[in-house]
Amino acid sequence: MKTEAVTAAPIITEADFKKFTEYFYRKTGIHFDDSKRYFVDKRLADRIGATGAADFRAYFVGLRFETDGRELQNLINSMTVNETYFFRECYQFDCLVNHLLDEVVAGKRKGDRVRIWSIPSSTGEEPYSIAIYLLERWARIDDFEIEILSSDIDSKVLQAAQDGIYSTRSVAQLPKSYLNKYFTPCANGDWRISRDLVESVEFSRINLTEAGDTRRFRNIDVVFCRNLLIYFDDLSRRVAAEAMYDALNPGGFICLGHSESMSRISSLFRVRRFPDALVHQKPLEDRT
Ligand SMILES: C[S@@+](CC[C@H](N)C(=O)[O-])C[C@H]1O[C@@H](n2cnc3c(N)ncnc32)[C@H](O)[C@@H]1O
Repeated sequence: MKTEAVTAAPIITEADFKKFTEYFYRKTGIHFDDSKRYFVDKRLADRIGATGAADFRAYFVGLRFETDGRELQNLINSMTVNETYFFRECYQFDCLVNHLLDEVVAGKRKGDRVRIWSIPSSTGEEPYSIAIYLLERWARIDDFEIEILSSDIDSKVLQAAQDGIYSTRSVAQLPKSYLNKYFTPCANGDWRISRDLVESVEFSRINLTEAGDTRRFRNIDVVFCRNLLIYFDDLSRRVAAEAMYDALNPGGFICLGHSESMSRISSLFRVRRFPDALVHQKPLEDRT
């Protein structure tokens, strides 16, 4: 009887791992150190199997010489970590509606735009949480034209965000009343978010470390960049910080994930302590 080979042998050599991770870093800003060897190996084995390449070498040649970028996108989709859920680290959403937006609109007139950028979006739980917070907990929502933009490098999660179907685990932190108001139950136990919410967010595929992708993001008032910088090295973090700096209006805010800090990488922002959260702010006087 033929049995499936059980082998823990890595599919790439030490030297190829280095070559591959350097290539992947250049394309995404994501840094894999030696501790991620097993993870990278497993994902590469999947892509080699899916493309029918004979081995890693053949796969890597095909990847670098493809003309349409399709396999690179598949590879990125398989290498990213997309963990997220509704109302994650919601003290920052509290800070948004209790403090940040009031400062933002102090410099605006009724009817002006308020632009919020959630990057990375992953499967959409974060930008939709922001939309729900604004609808439910920001009294001045009707005085302004709200734009919620949301981006990710992974095309698969962006599609899932726009499909808007969520597991019970993903919505577990949502107050029941919001779940009933903005979602409908699916036959299999999942939850479908309302089309109005899907249409309230503009999704786009961008690489935060690629200037060509980020330069069209300007006049942003608040950026949520949570649980992305942990995958970057210091250089990618610096590039990301500069991209967000350029995107923000003077006085605009950045909310980072709880384990992420800008202090080491950038002197561009001021740290502001609000009762709900600590956030970074582009100084008002920087009218560049
Ligand atoms: C752990 S999720 C964070 C989602 C959400 N912000 C949260 O905190 O719940 C990380 C996301 O970063 C995205 N990502 C990784 N590198 C990126 C890059 N260079 N530019 C944009 N998004 C990237 C991944 O595709 C993944 O969906």
